[in-house]
Amino acid sequence: MSTAPRVPNTPPDERPKVSIPRLNEMRELGEPIAMVTAYDFPSAQVAEEAGVDIVLVGDSGAMTVLGHSSTVPATMDEMLMLTAAVSRACRRALVIADLPFMSYQVSDEDALRAAGRFLKEASAQAVKLEGAGPMLARIRALAGAGIPVVAHLGLTPQTATSQGGYRAQGKTAQAALRLLHDAHAAEAAGAFLLVLEAVPAPVAERITHELRIPTIGIGAGAGCDGQVLVFHDLLGLGEGPLPRFVEQYASLGDDAVQAVTRYADDVRERRFPQERHTYAISEEELEHFQRLVEAGSPVGADDEDGVL
Ligand code: KIV
Repeated sequence: MSTAPRVPNTPPDERPKVSIPRLNEMRELGEPIAMVTAYDFPSAQVAEEAGVDIVLVGDSGAMTVLGHSSTVPATMDEMLMLTAAVSRACRRALVIADLPFMSYQVSDEDALRAAGRFLKEASAQAVKLEGAGPMLARIRALAGAGIPVVAHLGLTPQTATSQGGYRAQGKTAQAALRLLHDAHAAEAAGAFLLVLEAVPAPVAERITHELRIPTIGIGAGAGCDGQVLVFHDLLGLGEGPLPRFVEQYASLGDDAVQAVTRYADDVRERRFPQERHTYAISEEELEHFQRLVEAGSPVGADDEDGVL
């Protein structure tokens, strides 16, 4: 297995680190913002080499890399470890970490402590939290402490059960109006970016038009300032049906199964390893080794010890 890190071998990226002012500038210039999730060093390397603007260490990692059936079980320790690995790979992309469920819902103090750990221990540049209502106070507290914070409205997976499951939000006039008000409130509270998930495209477009901060859509249409997809969804690395808003750009899961199947077949049929996969030893050392073994020599013994 090659353990060589890919990033240090790639030419240094001349472009500066993506900053919050740069994201605002992209919005002003109408340059779409590309964001993708990542959960470890190699996936972040891929995102970085692909030149995405933002890497989100989503708590979707609880599902994509930890095998849970929802994002709820993600813990602080798990999210910190994943975020630290992603940060090590990201030189240009802005790294945002998801605050896991119940790390911020109880109090502003909890939110501040949790967010502070992501910045200090895992080198994230910003954190994301879900919801409005009581969560607006958290956004205010974080922004007030100088911690860049991203709001997430629409389908909010941490509280999907209360929303009736993984379903589109803002589909009635009243629900859409509530979303628009929440978006304004999140901006006023100090969020620098808004993720809109599973929201009708015209509603997301109207919200984007009304806000001053950039919006990032996932299942929210082309009218947002940017888009985010889950790494494993866009690369075809997961199992089961994908939400309608996912475009799958590769089938790496199938490719991986085929490759590992071929490897296992080669092992069983003794086609692997071959000569080129092995290390040499000189004839002289090999004969010496065989003499030592046949003489029953202890480790460290040699001809001079009189063993042979
Ligand atoms: O956890 C996640 O991956 C997310 C994205 C879906 C926005 O929050």
